[in-house]
Amino acid sequence: MNENPIKEVRLTPIRNGTVIDHIACGQALNVIKILGINETNIGSSISIGIHVSSKALGWKDIIKIEDREIDEKKSEQIALVAPDATISIVRDFYVAKKYKVDLGEHIVGLTRCTNLNCITNKGEPVLPEFSVESKYPVQLRCCYCGKLVNNISDNLL
Ligand SMILES: Nc1ncnc2c1ncn2[C@@H]1O[C@H](COP(=O)(O)OP(=O)(O)OP(=O)(O)O)[C@@H](O)[C@H]1O
Ligand SMILES: [Mg+2]
Ligand SMILES: [Zn+2]
Repeated sequence: MNENPIKEVRLTPIRNGTVIDHIACGQALNVIKILGINETNIGSSISIGIHVSSKALGWKDIIKIEDREIDEKKSEQIALVAPDATISIVRDFYVAKKYKVDLGEHIVGLTRCTNLNCITNKGEPVLPEFSVESKYPVQLRCCYCGKLVNNISDNLL
């Protein structure tokens, strides 16, 4: 047995970029989806920790993105699947800015309406659009059909 077991998983430090910490366990890949990161547009290294132990949350996910500072619009959207996430902007190895995500009032695109008869599910050129009905838990009201949508992470576009 190791006498000094490692207490905490640490991902590689980054010089510049963004750390998205305190992501609800299992939601890191959905956060990546919301950020719109895919094989065609990755421009720098990304480290993803899934099911990492956390004193505050028990278990959490964490993402470190090099050389990209995520904007306010994206951080509002991250709250859809990770309402307790913290965003830290790292510059020259230090945290230059840090804030908690906060869901915006209005969500356009990103997630489907769960009403199959909704105009947004009929192949028409309309993006799904929702007003935020509640933040904890996240509940969205479809602006087209009025349906209340709450299982967001199962319905991401
Ligand atoms: N240079 C860096 N490279 C990679 N990750 C970093 C760097 N600096 C800070 N972090 C990470 O950014 C997050 C915020 O940093 P901070 O120093 O505020 O951590 P903390 O004291 O653990 O804060 P919290 O109370 O939010 O958990 C943490 O997850 C930390 O591990
Ligand atoms: Mg911490
Ligand atoms: Zn609808």
